[in-house]
Amino acid sequence: MKPITLTQYLIEQQRLGGHVTSELRLLIQTVAQACIAIGHAVNRGALAGVLGGAGSDNVQGEAQKKLDVISNDILIEANEWGGHLAAMVSEEMEHPHLMPAGYPTGPYLLLVDPLDGSSNIDVNVSIGTIFSVLPCPAAGAPVTAASFLQPGSNQVAAGFAVYGPSTMLVLTVGNGTVSFTLDRDMGTFVLTAPAVKINEDTGEFAINMSNQRHWTAPIRRYIDDCLAGKTGPRGKDFNMRWVASMVADVYRIISRGGIFMYPADQRYKEGRLRLMYEANPMAMVIEQAGGAATDGVRRILDIEPSALHQRIGVVLGSKNEVAQVAQYHQ
Ligand code: F6P
Ligand code: MN
Repeated sequence: MKPITLTQYLIEQQRLGGHVTSELRLLIQTVAQACIAIGHAVNRGALAGVLGGAGSDNVQGEAQKKLDVISNDILIEANEWGGHLAAMVSEEMEHPHLMPAGYPTGPYLLLVDPLDGSSNIDVNVSIGTIFSVLPCPAAGAPVTAASFLQPGSNQVAAGFAVYGPSTMLVLTVGNGTVSFTLDRDMGTFVLTAPAVKINEDTGEFAINMSNQRHWTAPIRRYIDDCLAGKTGPRGKDFNMRWVASMVADVYRIISRGGIFMYPADQRYKEGRLRLMYEANPMAMVIEQAGGAATDGVRRILDIEPSALHQRIGVVLGSKNEVAQVAQYHQ
């Protein structure tokens, strides 16, 4: 069978009568196009002068890299004029970005982590872009930060791009999770995994072990038991991977199973990752692929947010392993 493109996939989804409207289709295609542009800049690296620090901090007080700022600008510019969006929120901007006066607006809200895995930018390791799409609650009414404060279960689409050996786009519109590979010659994303399914069991975990002294007792016990291997309480050997780019760690998990954890700990009491544009979109992608995503105990997608840049503990991946972690909390 001839492989289909992202555009064809989205048109098919629209015909199936789910919630993919022409505007949502345009939004996703626009984000995908922006990801191609970001991926191009990432790929050019030093040749394009895009490596290194930007000399500024973002709202969370983290030093911005040049590529954080460039990626944010690319996403804004791509999405402003299409008429599909009411407003955007980004890790790199304190307040929602409204569409400029004179441009038409649309029924959706876009939330992005423009460049995930910033610490890997300058060392030639996979990085990516994460996005989440919410319906805009009151069509016509002014959009404020409160308009974005919806639980992840309201997302109508979510996904991420990984700029690695191949540029990949992982997407869900609520009808399973699919993934596309960028055909650089054609400039199009081609569907290469039409039904992503995460193994329910795994023997591979991902956590930043250097944080061990900060962990809570349940996480400590869970990892100790994994490390004890075959003769320990879990009765099997575990392998460990930590890329330090959530996009790359999650991509591995949708490819061969696994569990990813950035739990709340003594230092990051609320967790480290951001709920609205990291945890929620990844949770939707993972659940739609048959996996599970919690903050250790609670389902991520059920959490009622209270702030745009709110942080949350994240435990996601193979269903039975995520359930194991919850049991250690009992
Ligand atoms: O966005 C935050 C992030 O870069 C994730 O992509 C990644 O999983 C994590 O931080 C890496 O954290 P650490 O620096 O503790 O390894
Ligand atoms: Mn990130």
